[in-house]
Amino acid sequence: MADLQVLKQQFTDRYEASESEILVFFAPGRVNLIGEHTDYNGGYVFPAALTFGTTMLIRPRQDRLVGFASTNFKLHKQISIDELIYNEADDWMNYPKGIIVHLAKQGFELTRGYDLLFHGEIPNGAGLSSSASIEVVTAYGLLASEGYPTDTVKIALLAQKTENEFVGVNCGIMDQFAVANGKKDHAILLMCDTLEYDLVPFQSGSYKLVIGNTNKRRGLVDSAYNERRSQCEQAVKYLQAQFPDITLLGQITLEQFNAYKHLIPDETVRRRAQHVVEEIDRVLQSMKVLQENDLEAFGKLMVGSHNSLRDLYEVTGVELDTMVAEALKVPGVLGSRMTGAGFGGCTVSLVHEDSVRAFQYQVGKAYTEQTGLTPEFYVCDIGDGVKQIKEEL
Ligand code: GLA
Repeated sequence: MADLQVLKQQFTDRYEASESEILVFFAPGRVNLIGEHTDYNGGYVFPAALTFGTTMLIRPRQDRLVGFASTNFKLHKQISIDELIYNEADDWMNYPKGIIVHLAKQGFELTRGYDLLFHGEIPNGAGLSSSASIEVVTAYGLLASEGYPTDTVKIALLAQKTENEFVGVNCGIMDQFAVANGKKDHAILLMCDTLEYDLVPFQSGSYKLVIGNTNKRRGLVDSAYNERRSQCEQAVKYLQAQFPDITLLGQITLEQFNAYKHLIPDETVRRRAQHVVEEIDRVLQSMKVLQENDLEAFGKLMVGSHNSLRDLYEVTGVELDTMVAEALKVPGVLGSRMTGAGFGGCTVSLVHEDSVRAFQYQVGKAYTEQTGLTPEFYVCDIGDGVKQIKEEL
């Protein structure tokens, strides 16, 4: 968490003096532990909120301007509430702009302008949901400042809609949901079709979750992501010959899929669907083994998930595969997998606390030798979802 005194100083340096109070809000990033590329198929996911994220300072204005500023980027602007449109040149500001537009569409019009200052700790483009974090903190902070209710499930849906319709990224609900509803020391078992969820205590004892950032920019991710989504939709169409009522792959069981997968003539589409139904099943198996505190079995499911994302869904790539393969060579590592959309970004590994330093050293060295890239590692604690920070400024 950033130093609030310093942030407040940056806020007052940037904006005109005002009598009004500065409020502070925070939304985390997220890591998905298992259940990848299942959210838009109406399946289960199992993400957790991180302890680092995006802090937003907010203060009302007397006019209808919104001030957008960030400690991470030079670009800052003041724009009228009535002139908020998507503009590529506005870069990161499109996220909070989109939130304001979508809040208004849902009847939560701002009654006045605001000055905003964002401070982000999540590396951009690393697959740890920096965009969901800024969207959710903006929605929560504005609703709270206007005196509207702050329902975190509705906020997640609004943030996803903003990402889909304003920013133009066709993501599922997982990231925004985890960022909005996470809880310290808990992972979230979320059924993405119905949005029913359970907060599951994540007790990993002497094991730590270690995130490895490949530092490989996620190049073709949007087009490949959309292609995977449409392949899943095609698979549903074929399977409707046997299951006329299904609209999403998550609505059939693994047994049903295996009995009727021959209805999918296209081999690639069949493999994509196979990943999805098996991955949903792996999430359910994870719940069972975690209840029995069997971390070793959970580690194996993580590896199964990675292999399937590599071989059936084909969203890993040499950097993620190298990092996972090297992680699994380190004694004390129970499991390792890519997390997020793939094609670069991060891995998550379950590492014995006594092996964490060796892990960072060995995996880092081998990864750099093989890819020429310098990775970063974050030993991760599970934190809370979006909230107001009330400490004295
Ligand atoms: C990205 C998307 C999520 C989800 C994951 C893959 O993070 O934003 O909605 O689809 O990829 O599991």
